[in-house]
Amino acid sequence: MTITPGFTLCFLLNGDDVLMLHRRFPPNQGLWNGVGGHIEPGETAPEAVIREVAEETGYRIESADFVGLMTWDGFEIPPGAIVMFTVQVPHREFVTNHEGDLAWKPREWACTAPEVVDNIHIFLPMILAGEGPLHFHFSYRNGKRVRDVIEPIPVDFDLDRPFQVELGLLEEERGGFLLSFDKDRLQLDRVEDFLVRGSYWANDRSREVIETSIQNSVCLGIYREGLQVAFARLVTDRSTFAWLCDVYVDDAQRGHSLGKWLVEAACRYTDQMGISLTLLATRDAHGLYATYGHFRPLDVPEKWMRRDLPKKD
Ligand SMILES: CC(C)(COP(=O)(O)OP(=O)(O)OC[C@H]1O[C@@H](n2cnc3c(N)ncnc32)[C@H](O)[C@@H]1OP(=O)(O)O)[C@@H](O)C(=O)NCCC(=O)NCCS
Repeated sequence: MTITPGFTLCFLLNGDDVLMLHRRFPPNQGLWNGVGGHIEPGETAPEAVIREVAEETGYRIESADFVGLMTWDGFEIPPGAIVMFTVQVPHREFVTNHEGDLAWKPREWACTAPEVVDNIHIFLPMILAGEGPLHFHFSYRNGKRVRDVIEPIPVDFDLDRPFQVELGLLEEERGGFLLSFDKDRLQLDRVEDFLVRGSYWANDRSREVIETSIQNSVCLGIYREGLQVAFARLVTDRSTFAWLCDVYVDDAQRGHSLGKWLVEAACRYTDQMGISLTLLATRDAHGLYATYGHFRPLDVPEKWMRRDLPKKD
């Protein structure tokens, strides 16, 4: 499968030190990491890293060295890929940013300290020793890293391929909230919390099922200051049919029109894709979908049938 990275990660180097970021927001909240972030639509990873380094540290670099590729599964955000870079900077004065606290740390500390994102212990020593570029894959289960695979960069990986988002998978901001169709942004701990502890329809769903359902759906998230506050999912063939489900707004953010925004954005997506039929089921939120998504009751309910997974003995 061709790897399409959605993020960059960069280690700025000066003397024997590495510039590290103490992350204020998920993923890896509260841990130290390199700097970096999302690759924007149309950007290549080398372009994205120049922008991210400027935004997060104030350093104006002209280029950075490609040193590796990281992929993962079972983590707090859905499976994805990060392109990793290093760059030597000529001085130690950085600009602070809202993502977290920056500090110069000794290389040895960055490679071993427990306060650092755990997989850095695996790849940073190799990167700093000049090995690679290599492809690092990390598997997580229940919040623990259980398997590391280190292999050559896949032959079909193209560093200079611009990042593309699918039709309609755009992002928009309203009053300090960001709505995004980018699955790389989803925070699985939050989604699990919404569905298992908050919803009346998915309280028996396992983490594994949640992860698989997200991988195979179009998903929407709303974020405030980096924290996911709402979720919705469209199960769809992206051409003829969609099922709108798992619509959920964090308790603390209800009543601020986020539910309406999710419904409007989901319907905009299905309209753009020319999807002729979208269905949903709801216990008590008919007004939300009727008013803000133009949903209506089934014309002939008796035409519809359902099949449930047979119960195990
Ligand atoms: C339903 C939910 C998504 C609404 O999100 P929200 O951000 O609080 O709501 P909004 O501020 O966008 O406003 C919702 C609109 O739908 C209407 N509405 C209709 N039924 C509703 C319901 N059961 N709950 C909340 N709003 C409802 C509201 O009156 C409001 O319209 P109005 O401003 O014209 O009066 C949110 O309350 C939630 O997550 N609830 C728990 C999970 C759930 O029930 N999800 C829907 C499953 S089908």
